[in-house]
This record gives sequence, structure tokens and C-alpha cells, in this order.
Amino acid sequence: MIDRTGLILEIFGERAATAEGRLQVELAHLDYQAGRLVRSWTHLERQRGGFGFLGGPGETQIEADRRMIRDRMARLRRELEQVRRTRGLHRSRREKAPWPVIALVGYTNAGKSTLFNRLTGAGVMAEDLLFATLDPTMRRIRLPGVDKAILSDTVGFISDLPTQLVAAFRATLEEVTAADVIVHVRDIANPDTAAQKAEVLDILSDLGLLDDEAETPRIPMVEAWNKWDLLDAERAIELTDQIAAHPDEVIVPLSALTGVGTDALLEAVSRLLTQGARLHTFVLPASDGQRLAWLHAHGEVLADDEAGEDERGPLRRLSVRLEPRELGRFTRL
Ligand code: GTP
Repeated sequence: MIDRTGLILEIFGERAATAEGRLQVELAHLDYQAGRLVRSWTHLERQRGGFGFLGGPGETQIEADRRMIRDRMARLRRELEQVRRTRGLHRSRREKAPWPVIALVGYTNAGKSTLFNRLTGAGVMAEDLLFATLDPTMRRIRLPGVDKAILSDTVGFISDLPTQLVAAFRATLEEVTAADVIVHVRDIANPDTAAQKAEVLDILSDLGLLDDEAETPRIPMVEAWNKWDLLDAERAIELTDQIAAHPDEVIVPLSALTGVGTDALLEAVSRLLTQGARLHTFVLPASDGQRLAWLHAHGEVLADDEAGEDERGPLRRLSVRLEPRELGRFTRL
């Protein structure tokens, strides 16, 4: 007999794509087994009316089993620690190659994977393959005017995650907190879509991503109203009116299945990433290839002229539109 926790573990186990995800699932699984073990053995012992000394001398079978699980869990925790350290390295490398990160979140079955594949599917580049093997839930995508960005998929948000699992999956969700833009994918054709949205916002709030009082996201957020193709004409009009009534929110109707509306989504994400860009002037040695290349890659270079020379050699003066976040990264270079 498998209960709800066991079932969720099976599902997550199948989908866990990263090394960390797999370890977390196995750890949660053992924890779950240990709990069941205690229950089933105490039941047997009561039936037999005594202890069976089946393990080592002076050790009951249940103690032996428990010890085995405990040892295995300790090993998994060490492995997990190692994976986290490596992931930390990946993340800091990503911060150094500072491409913006766009995180897809959404209720189970909302269509995240379908959208992820649709947005990244066209032409996987060789350099992406390395990335894909490091972490198959992350891919490079191109956005209008942004050049390079990383799209990351998140495991399905599940309502009432059993408490013993919450911690296990938290670390995976924490990737979201490093995102520059969050795309909240909603199954807008589902009758429970409003309740599902509330659940997702609860989880984002737990992660500290919502301003608690105003309930507004701390990271720019787009709502992708997915499965628009399933709506009848009347409902489509109703929802279009709703979008018009909330001009302060970024909402994009689309169908990940057919691809209609996905360009509009990419444009909306681009706008959020580049909004607030300001013009800056930098004078740099012409020999400073790293910084010059960085500015060309991450800003909109409006002018790039000779500007005399100093003891470092010839200088260049650049006028660059940079958003505040990118300016911060540039100064850290
Ligand atoms: P989890 O992995 O459980 O979090 O689900 P998910 O959010 O990744 O959803 P997924 O992409 O697996 O899609 C769930 C189902 O919805 C699949 O059967 C998709 O084919 C279907 N689907 C996704 N997008 C659309 C859409 O735009 N229109 C229609 N009609 N079906 C869609």
C-alpha cells in the first residue's frame, strides 16, 4: 500500500533531473521508509508477542534496519552537501558570466515543461549542451534586445506538500530566489486557476519573494495565461477584459502547445529585464578587452570613440545604456 507521501515521492523521483533533486528525493524516501518501518515492526512485534533476535547478537531486526537507513541517510546528506557546494560554484560562475536568469514557476500541470521546451526547443546550440548536462532544467534562450539569458524550470508546485517533504524541495525552489524575472505559468482554462495561483503565491511568499504587506513580488513577475487555446470565445473575452482592468500587472495570454503568444511573452520578459536602463559614460583603456567586451555584451553601446591616452595607453570613451543591476555587475568586474 502506498500513501499520498509515497506517491508524491514516486512522481518527484521520476522527474528529479538534477543530482541534488535525486539525492533529496532519496533522502525523503528513506525518512518516509524509516517512519513506516517503525510502524510495521511494532505491529509485527505486538502480533508475535516478543522480540525476534534476527540481527547481530543483541540487536533486533528492526534495529539493524534502522541503523542501515540511518547510515545511508548520513551518507546521502554528505553527498548532498557536496552537490550544494558544486552548485554554489556553478551559481557563482553564472553570476560572473552575468546572464539574466528567468525562472518558470507554476502549479503542477500548468504547462511549464511545455513552455520551457517551446522557448528553448528551437536549435540547441553546442555550447548549450554542456549547460544542459550540468543541469537539464536550465537552458540558454535568446530574447529580443537581451542577447543571452538563462531559462530555468522549477519542479511542480504541489498543494499541501507533506511537511517532511517541504524541506527536501525547498533548496530546489531556492533557485527561484536568484532569478531576475519570474514567469508564473497558469493554466487559465482550469476552473481552479484562482486557487492554484494563491497556492503558488503562498510558496513564493514562503521563499520571501513577496512583499508581505503589499503582496507584490520583489522580483519582476509576468503571468503567462497558458492554455488559452482551450477557452471558448465568451471566456476569452471575459479574461481579455480582466487583463485590461489590470494595466499595472504584466499578463500575457498564450498557448505553449501551439506557440501562439510566446513571442509576446519573450518581449514582456525583455522589457522587464531592460526597464530602468540609464545612460552611462565610461572611459577605459583600449587594452581592457574584458571590460569593453562586457559592456558590448550587456549594455546598449550608443557610442564608442577614441579619447586620448594616459599611462595605460590609448583610451576609449563609451556611452552605454545599462540597467541598474548590470551596472552593479560591471563595477564588480
Ligand atoms: P508539472 O511537471 O507537473 O509541474 O507540470 P507542467 O507545469 O510542467 O505541465 P506540462 O508542461 O507537463 O503540461 C501539462 C499538460 O498540459 C500536458 O498534457 C500538456 O500537453 C498540456 N498543455 C501545456 N500547455 C498547453 C496549452 O497551451 N494548451 C493545451 N491545450 N494544453 C497544454
